[in-house]
Amino acid sequence: MHSYTLIAPAKINLYLEIIGDASGGLRQRPDGYHELAMILQSIGLADQIGVHSLSTDSIRVHCNHPQVPTDNTNLAYRAAELMATQFPEAFSKYRGVEITINKQIPVAAGLAGGSTNAAAVLVGIDLLWKLGLTQSELEELGAKLGSDVPFCVAGGTAIATGRGEQLSPLPSLDNIYILLAKYRSLEVSTAWAYQTYRQQFGNSDIRDTNNLAARASAVHSGAIVKAIFDKDVRQIAQKLHNDLERVVLPAYPQVLQLREVIANQEGILGTMMSGSGPTVFALLESQQQAEQLKLQVREAIPDEDLELFVTRTITHGIQIGSSV
Ligand code: C5P
Repeated sequence: MHSYTLIAPAKINLYLEIIGDASGGLRQRPDGYHELAMILQSIGLADQIGVHSLSTDSIRVHCNHPQVPTDNTNLAYRAAELMATQFPEAFSKYRGVEITINKQIPVAAGLAGGSTNAAAVLVGIDLLWKLGLTQSELEELGAKLGSDVPFCVAGGTAIATGRGEQLSPLPSLDNIYILLAKYRSLEVSTAWAYQTYRQQFGNSDIRDTNNLAARASAVHSGAIVKAIFDKDVRQIAQKLHNDLERVVLPAYPQVLQLREVIANQEGILGTMMSGSGPTVFALLESQQQAEQLKLQVREAIPDEDLELFVTRTITHGIQIGSSV
């Protein structure tokens, strides 16, 4: 096979807690990252990634979205570079790779769009170069690229700790319906969101830092995880949490207003910002309710810059679409 097409789903955060690190307060870890306890959930909104063998040693990226870079600042490009350096023999045998990104997931939105593209490139090159890597080997490679990449390889529903790369799978949640709302022109830098959180709450909001491991593992016995085991969607929706709302909502009044408009609509089970934002999501029991909410939000905020998507929870990460 010389080409594969992969389906690369987005994710939402059902839970995001910034724990800090053992060295005191919310100071960064030695690697500059923050210690987190998250619950990540794959959703149906997905990009399509084509990977195609080239007869030269180059890596080429094409994308239908003008804001997505095609050089080595693109995580998908870096995923191909990583594979070339990790597997030099396969690289010299199979040569370069052309990557085509058909972008449906909003960019810089807190939905792991870049991470899921990188995860798809790892899976695609593993297939192209017949490496036979296991899922955990692919996840380990993914962790070298970004905190959310291992989850994007695995997908489904999972607890993520460490900087987000240590995964514990949870029972699958399928067919919870979701409305995603994002202002097209708004982008939030993840690095900015974490840095601002540390600056604002690092001293005044110190948590039990002697007990970091205990705090990270507390998420395993928390109310939202119990609700996921019970498949109690109402309870899951009640327990949604995201520490980054504390910095992103005040800095982006439009997002705060959107969050409030959605929270005040009838029929929603719960609402929260995903990751570092600015996407806001709502959970609903049926597709009909999600479509109804979409109409209500559109009516309340008739701004063409506001993109709305109806999707649902899914139980998988990267999937192979087709091969030639
Ligand atoms: O790992 P990823 O590249 O997705 O992270 C983007 C940025 O978000 C990092 O450069 C870092 O500034 C911040 N981050 C963090 N702690 C984490 C994850 C991300 O500070 N656990």
